[in-house]
Amino acid sequence: MLLHVTIVSLLLVAVNCDSGSYILPDEETKDQQWVFCSKPTDGDSIFNYSIDALNSTAGTINFSKFKGKPILLVNVATYCGSAFEYPLYNQLIDKFGDKLALIAFPSNNFANQEPSADPNEIYNAIKYVRPGGGFVPKFPLTVRIDVNGEKRHPIYSFLKRSCPSTRTRIIDQFYLNYREINSRDIRWNFEKFLLHPKTGQPWKRYDQLFTPNVIIPDIEQLLKEN
Ligand SMILES: *[C@@H]1O[C@H](CO)[C@@H](O)[C@H](O)[C@H]1NC(C)=O
Ligand SMILES: *[C@@H]1O[C@H](CO)[C@@H](O)[C@H](O)[C@H]1NC(C)=O
Ligand SMILES: *[C@@H]1O[C@H](CO)[C@@H](O)[C@H](O)[C@H]1NC(C)=O
Repeated sequence: MLLHVTIVSLLLVAVNCDSGSYILPDEETKDQQWVFCSKPTDGDSIFNYSIDALNSTAGTINFSKFKGKPILLVNVATYCGSAFEYPLYNQLIDKFGDKLALIAFPSNNFANQEPSADPNEIYNAIKYVRPGGGFVPKFPLTVRIDVNGEKRHPIYSFLKRSCPSTRTRIIDQFYLNYREINSRDIRWNFEKFLLHPKTGQPWKRYDQLFTPNVIIPDIEQLLKEN
């Protein structure tokens, strides 16, 4: 019975997820698939930051250990339509191995699409529900964080300082689990940032709809430049 209730509530959250399609890039206002970021004026770098891994036995992720690698960051949520992207990130790891640093940040800032911060719940949900099929990520997830609003993680303040949004509109407050709105807010789950291997500074910010396989040429370019 309890299991039944849990499955039904998981399905309800999954259906809600599709409100994500409400904020497709806007043709009329010429929203973009990606934007270039500018250099942080204070010389700040991702190498100055660390965050706890979702898997507590994996300890803390200290970004300074990724010096010399392109770094791809994505905010994720299990019950988002874009959770179909999860296997595409594993394919990036299959392709680039440890030449690429790829980190996913679970967040519940949008429409309750990451309803629990419990590591077991997140790992089991991606394994059995979305994308399911026994999916195990080949890259680290962090503890659940806010990417926007008053409780946003400092890493996301850093990223957004350098990179404007790909979109002009912001979805109705009804879907947002935070209050303080900013034009640079992450618009939904599965936005990506690619950072430069030498400087650890943001290079490009990609819209939620720009899937990770399309980023491969950019990763290859950064590897060549390095
Ligand atoms: C961040 O890192 C850069 C480059 O290593 C350094 O110049 C800067 O002082 C650091 N900033 C902070 C706030 O630690
Ligand atoms: C990351 O590791 C380096 C080298 O061990 C250390 O100097 C630095 O303080 C650490 N940074 C953070 C933010 O924990
Ligand atoms: C957590 O990390 C440990 C040590 O690296 C590993 O053995 C374990 O499989 C990981 N658990 C999950 C759910 O990823």
